[in-house]
Amino acid sequence: MAPSKPHISIYISIITIFLLLLNPTKSEENKNLKSTTTENECEQRWIHIRKLPPKFNLDLLSNCSEYTFLDDLCPYLANHGLGQKTHNRSHSWYRTDPSMLELIFHRRMLEYPCLTEDPKTANAVYLPYYAAFDSLRYLYGPEYNSSEQHGVHLFHFLTKENHPEIWNRHSGHDHFLVMARPAWDFAQPLDNDPHLWGTSFLELPHFFNVTALTLESRAWPWQEHAVPYPTSFHPPNLALLDSWIQRVRRSKRSSLALFAGGGGFSATPNIRRSIRMECDNDNNSSNVNGNSFGYEKLCETVDCSNGVCEHDPIRFMKPMLGANFCLQPPGDTPTRKSTFDAILAGCIPVFFEDLSAKSQYSWHLPENEFEGFSVTIPKEDVVFKGLKIFDVLQRIPRARVRRMREKVLELIPRVVYRKHNSSPGLRNKKDAFDLTIDGTLNKIRSRLQELDLVL
Ligand SMILES: *[C@@H]1O[C@H](CO)[C@@H](O)[C@H](O)[C@H]1NC(C)=O
Ligand SMILES: *[C@@H]1O[C@H](CO)[C@@H](O)[C@H](O)[C@H]1NC(C)=O
Ligand SMILES: *[C@@H]1O[C@H](CO)[C@@H](O)[C@H](O)[C@H]1NC(C)=O
Ligand SMILES: *[C@@H]1O[C@H](CO)[C@@H](O)[C@H](O)[C@H]1NC(C)=O
Ligand SMILES: *[C@@H]1O[C@H](CO)[C@@H](O)[C@H](O)[C@H]1NC(C)=O
Ligand SMILES: *[C@@H]1O[C@H](CO)[C@@H](O)[C@H](O)[C@H]1NC(C)=O
Repeated sequence: MAPSKPHISIYISIITIFLLLLNPTKSEENKNLKSTTTENECEQRWIHIRKLPPKFNLDLLSNCSEYTFLDDLCPYLANHGLGQKTHNRSHSWYRTDPSMLELIFHRRMLEYPCLTEDPKTANAVYLPYYAAFDSLRYLYGPEYNSSEQHGVHLFHFLTKENHPEIWNRHSGHDHFLVMARPAWDFAQPLDNDPHLWGTSFLELPHFFNVTALTLESRAWPWQEHAVPYPTSFHPPNLALLDSWIQRVRRSKRSSLALFAGGGGFSATPNIRRSIRMECDNDNNSSNVNGNSFGYEKLCETVDCSNGVCEHDPIRFMKPMLGANFCLQPPGDTPTRKSTFDAILAGCIPVFFEDLSAKSQYSWHLPENEFEGFSVTIPKEDVVFKGLKIFDVLQRIPRARVRRMREKVLELIPRVVYRKHNSSPGLRNKKDAFDLTIDGTLNKIRSRLQELDLVL
């Protein structure tokens, strides 16, 4: 633990200084500066950042090395949550941990153009609470048996200790926060006995009115909406985004399908096992006989067991650039970060159930165009009825594959979290953060209208 201490203090002090400098002053400045030019742009879009004591955010980060039941989390805090660069000369690629979305989002919020100091004029109130960070002590740590307490101290602060009128104005219906894990991790029923997995944040009536942005939502979500997992790519300007997309478009794709992940070794039938068996059988025959489309390989696998791929994008991005289709079977939960890595690599995602993406990311992956950029093969047909994944994929005509790939390329800017403080040219293109803000503002607006809380 000791050797990492200097790093921690550097990350924390940089982050602290930055937040202290920017938080109150810059937004005020923004508002004055832009009050004339952006009046229209900001209409119905004003956001107030709720000031929270550091125990709800920065203190959690400064404890990054003390989650002894997990890896040292400190390296992932670098660059405002983007993590460390993959190598020193990289401009866009980082070793990003998806659970840092809370930090990444907070940093981007500070440069949102329509911030207001006055909560009474705000259309939405952002809570910079690092909820997933705070959940670790309940999920894995010493407070495992009091996980129904997750968030209670925040609620107390908002409604009792500090300006309760901000909450009371709309009973919390205009409040939102990021929770950078799947909603399942926060959805344990309060009366669960015995205690199973998760905290009860989303089950507490206290927060029923708050919009939670999670990496995956439940099947029938009320409070939460799913937003893309952050990938490792965070370009600082338009030229770097465009040159990546060019590279993806030109990439030679010599394998039909790729699976990057672990699992599939269990004896009970499941989709990962079916994929592994099909892959193992098909790769010999294709090499011997060739195949109708002249792929060098029908199937490629990248073994990501034991988390080896997690902070090492090179391991899977190169193979994804060389594949036409990327298989996205559900794992512990239905969604996977790999779906967004695949889109970023122009690799057409193949889903095995709607919960993996279609019913999740409607703000970023338009539901009504879903068939245009992805393939869905029901997992029951594969596991129990013997449908062969590679037969389905090989039957898709080449022209259609090309059209799908173009659609996937169009999605890239929508699922990327660009780097903070990026160039004006890149800011003109809506990224994953911008679309999340749009979706959140719309969701809150329609909720308030339903409740007759606004005109
Ligand atoms: C940080 O860790 C210290 C020591 O383990 C603990 O006392 C403190 O409550 C932690 N702070 C937060 C915000 O979790
Ligand atoms: C990157 O730069 C730092 C300091 O400039 C240096 O200590 C480190 O060894 C470099 N890493 C690589 C992989 O070159
Ligand atoms: C939680 O409670 C269970 C059952 O009482 C106990 O076995 C376990 O050690 C407790 N865990 C912690 C972290 O206290
Ligand atoms: C949530 O909203 C409902 C209806 O507007 C309100 O009655 C309730 O008190 C709110 N809950 C909290 C915890 O503020
Ligand atoms: C594929 O090749 C491996 C060895 O490379 C062999 O063990 C296996 O039996 C082969 N499978 C088929 C279906 O030919
Ligand atoms: C088939 O795939 C396995 C791993 O999936 C690999 O080790 C083997 O070399 C492949 N065989 C051929 C002939 O490509």
